Amino acid sequence: MKILAIVGSLRTESYNLQLARAAGAVLAQNHPEVEYELLDWADVPLMNQDIEHPAPEAVARVREKVKTADGIWLFSPEYNHFFPGTLKNLLDWLSRPVSDTEGQVLRGKPIALAGTTPGMSGTSHAQDHLVTMLSFLQADIMNAPRLAIPHIGQQMENGALSLSSSAPYLEKQAAAFVGFIERHRNR
Ligand code: FNR
Repeated sequence: MKILAIVGSLRTESYNLQLARAAGAVLAQNHPEVEYELLDWADVPLMNQDIEHPAPEAVARVREKVKTADGIWLFSPEYNHFFPGTLKNLLDWLSRPVSDTEGQVLRGKPIALAGTTPGMSGTSHAQDHLVTMLSFLQADIMNAPRLAIPHIGQQMENGALSLSSSAPYLEKQAAAFVGFIERHRNR
């Protein structure tokens, strides 16, 4: 089983990137059958229909990664009670048909939602907007459990994520998502 992580922040020290890495460690420990990869998408250009066909190399690459993944685990920050515009741009590219004969790659794709903020929101507003967009794209969203971790600063030790209180919730979401993907495959 292949799970692709998409982190909605391009920041080197991103809390959400650190959370995605912690998720990888949980999968390696508890679900060793899962292949886990973080999507590299920083080079995807701004959506401009003038350059849509043929797809830019970076777009073709991310589409292929999404297409061959059994599930997508999204780790998004919250910007102004929404998900970042950079992530919207990536999802906009993914929302377009691959070719005249091949549809868009998010259709029917199992997706889990997670995120963290230093403040009290925990990204729950951003996740609601992701659900709206991804439902429109007919992705197969795992509605529960979602993971929204507030006050992440309290779970940092010496600059690294400790997840002292949230680790059980991350483990729970990992197990639920693996089961969700298995049920999706057996349908
Ligand atoms: C933020 N931040 C933020 N936090 C929040 O809980 N709700 C919000 O609406 C916003 N809005 C917002 C807008 C913009 C433009 C920025 C840059 C930031 C703070 C945000 O949660 C914080 O910077 C996180 O550290 C971003 O996630 P990463 O990069 O650490 O993963």
